[in-house]
Amino acid sequence: MKVAILGTGYVGLSTGVALAEIGHHVCCIDVDEKKIARLKQGKSPIYEPGLEELLVKNLAAGRLRFTTSHREGISGAEIVILAVGTPQSNDGAADLTYLEQAARDVAVHLQQDTIVVIKSTVPVGTNDKMKQLIEAYCSEDVSIQIVSNPEFLRQGSAMKDTLEADRIIIGCDDRKAGDKVRELYRPLNVPVVMTSLRSAEMIKYASNAFLAMKISFINGMANVCEAVGADILDVAKGMGMDKRIGNSFLQAGIGYGGSCFPKDVQALYHTTKQHNVDFGLLGETMELNEQQRVLLVKKAFERFNGKIAGKKIAMLGLAFKPETDDMREAPSIPISLELTRQGADVIAYDPVATSNAQKILGNRIAYAKTIQEAVAGADAVLIVTEWDEIKQLEPSKLVEDMNEAIIFDGRNCLNEEKIRSCSKIEYYPVGRPAIIKYAGK
Ligand code: UGA
Repeated sequence: MKVAILGTGYVGLSTGVALAEIGHHVCCIDVDEKKIARLKQGKSPIYEPGLEELLVKNLAAGRLRFTTSHREGISGAEIVILAVGTPQSNDGAADLTYLEQAARDVAVHLQQDTIVVIKSTVPVGTNDKMKQLIEAYCSEDVSIQIVSNPEFLRQGSAMKDTLEADRIIIGCDDRKAGDKVRELYRPLNVPVVMTSLRSAEMIKYASNAFLAMKISFINGMANVCEAVGADILDVAKGMGMDKRIGNSFLQAGIGYGGSCFPKDVQALYHTTKQHNVDFGLLGETMELNEQQRVLLVKKAFERFNGKIAGKKIAMLGLAFKPETDDMREAPSIPISLELTRQGADVIAYDPVATSNAQKILGNRIAYAKTIQEAVAGADAVLIVTEWDEIKQLEPSKLVEDMNEAIIFDGRNCLNEEKIRSCSKIEYYPVGRPAIIKYAGK
């Protein structure tokens, strides 16, 4: 099939590359000229495992094109996918400015009957509104059908999640249009759920809110475990073996970040308020997350008896999760702001997110090129992102060059046996008993 995609962010680009990979002819459109120029050369603007290889492969095979021209990109497309961002606006609602602009841009260039698929995460009822908007701007002899097709890919595993999805949601009021989109994805051999437009829109919010709630729940449990001397890893394992609970998204840590959970829980909460539906659980989920994001600062404050000023703190990891350079809503941001506000000298290391972090944190903190450089002379190490190279660290080597052998592990990712075999260490995980082999200076 001939497909046009508007927006080359995580969702648009991964979808475009995946659809080309399964044999469709895809043209990705973006207004950002620099980005399109790079993509035409096979260079991905985002760090995403496996993406660039498939990008290069499908460009070479002639199934994937990039353009800044809506007219050129949309020409002849049977399906047009809108995958632009819907960021959070000041009042917590989803900001639909980009989506509305994309809908107008598409509408004026449509020359034939077309299915418009909305992949962007949008509040319930938006697909109906987009249909009206496109109809108002497109030529009278063109008819359009809207299909809601929310996306469930995760950053860091975007290609895998797209090519091996758990399910594909297709929301439509017109069965023929829905069947055509089902056909588009058929080569993926993934279960499809067909619903109304509104239910499809809601499935996306419900899924993200539920996962965010699961994380806040396990973080809350971690805090209780710490208080009573239980171990959250064992508790999560024991809970997760119950198939009704499931073992994923039960990793306690320093809260969820990224471009999705924070804004989507907020937007759903906004919707409940708008409709006078009492759903305090969503508010609690966000509140718990806010507290959890600065948990390591609280722990450091307690360990240093309130005297953080002048301490050298090494922060390992900046990105909101491993395998991405995305810094949106990363816990490293509030941690850095709070530590520096209290007068600490923070030096951070991340294998790929440093330049994005610099745009946000500037010279408020220092940036190291290696882990060794970050930890040399440090009074404490904070583990913020569980990159493989951080998980595999030898704690005994890590603490060698430190001023004090104190580690706060916000992701419970260092190897416990190796910690226990250190002769000198103070190790503070989340929701688990601390391991103290040496009482610092
Ligand atoms: C999330 C969803 O998982 C995707 O299904 C969805 O498509 C996407 O949002 C979206 O709406 O576009 P993403 O934000 O890329 O994906 O990353 P996740 O892997 O879900 O992680 C989100 C945050 O939760 C990270 O900060 C991560 O560290 C944290 N997390 C995750 C935990 O703290 N504990 C866990 O057990 C799992």
